[in-house]
Amino acid sequence: MKVAVFPGDGIGPEVTREAVRVLEALDLPGLTLFEGDVGGIAYKRHGHPLPEETRAIARSCDAVLFGAVGDPDCDALERHLRPEQAILGLRERLMLFANLRPAKVLPGMEAASSLRPEIARAIDLLIVRELTGDVYFGDKQRFVCQNGERGGRDVMAYIESEVRRIAHTAFRAARGRKRRLCSVDKANVLETSQLWRDVVIETAAEYSDVELEHMYVDNAAMQLVRDPGRFDVIVTGNLFGDILSDQASMCVGSIGLLASASLGERQTEYGTFGLYEPIHGSAPDIAEQGRANPMAAILSTAMMLRHSFGREAEAGRIEAAVALALADGVRGSDLGGHAGTSEIGDAVLERL
Ligand code: IPM
Ligand code: MG
Repeated sequence: MKVAVFPGDGIGPEVTREAVRVLEALDLPGLTLFEGDVGGIAYKRHGHPLPEETRAIARSCDAVLFGAVGDPDCDALERHLRPEQAILGLRERLMLFANLRPAKVLPGMEAASSLRPEIARAIDLLIVRELTGDVYFGDKQRFVCQNGERGGRDVMAYIESEVRRIAHTAFRAARGRKRRLCSVDKANVLETSQLWRDVVIETAAEYSDVELEHMYVDNAAMQLVRDPGRFDVIVTGNLFGDILSDQASMCVGSIGLLASASLGERQTEYGTFGLYEPIHGSAPDIAEQGRANPMAAILSTAMMLRHSFGREAEAGRIEAAVALALADGVRGSDLGGHAGTSEIGDAVLERL
């Protein structure tokens, strides 16, 4: 069982270190880790945010554990050299089109939410975000108008096979949950979204046991804070999913608690090849202070064990250990507490 470990920038290395400690504590026979550079640190060391060495490691492994990328020192670089290209490049090259972002309020954690506790309590949803298409990967241009004004253009596009495969992922996920799927788009304005909606409706014919609804993205943003408990599975495009998943994280209480899995179609000997990362970024403002909450990174290893290695029991153990630590009052600064990164790692390890 080969795992590529790419800690990246900012708080990425700190939180990944704790995730790796938890993973190693399970003592799984045959588990081997291979470390690689991504993001700003990779640019500084190798001149590229996603060097060939790193890509080769990813290709040769069964799963990737990813920290975070993003470094203000690199903001002035040309776009193809910026740290974010590491994660976008891995998603594209490894064809990881399905991003699963679960958001759930654990009992006792209602007070952490930005919402009123009685509203937050009901949150238990899964965002299925399309990850390799949309305006993220369409043509990009800077141009100059005849009058000399500068302009920018990014093309938003989907083709039906892209929509169909993510729709299947979402319907199957809904089958494993409460069998309710909400497809989020902007079909009242965008042709891309009308295609999305048409294809989701066609796909629904194979899942008559799942209740499907459609919602415009502006309304979805509103419902997510008005009555988030109404959602089970949300399926949406790359850009809307990016935005709604950050919003969902604050409904839960902290972006430091949410893990994600990015999956494609490739099967390995053990399960589905995937990349696992906390949904938070590199948070350069708190990097190297030992203050970052590693729980999202730790929970990402649980998702990895579940999806890429078929180790449901161990995944459940990690999730239970994190839930126990929270129930016992272990709180990082993101949750108004004082526990540092390694202290939180210790607390999870003890309970594991
Ligand atoms: C995310 C991040 C990335 C994205 C950035 C770092 C490119 O915000 O995973 O949500 O926009 O997809
Ligand atoms: Mg994001």
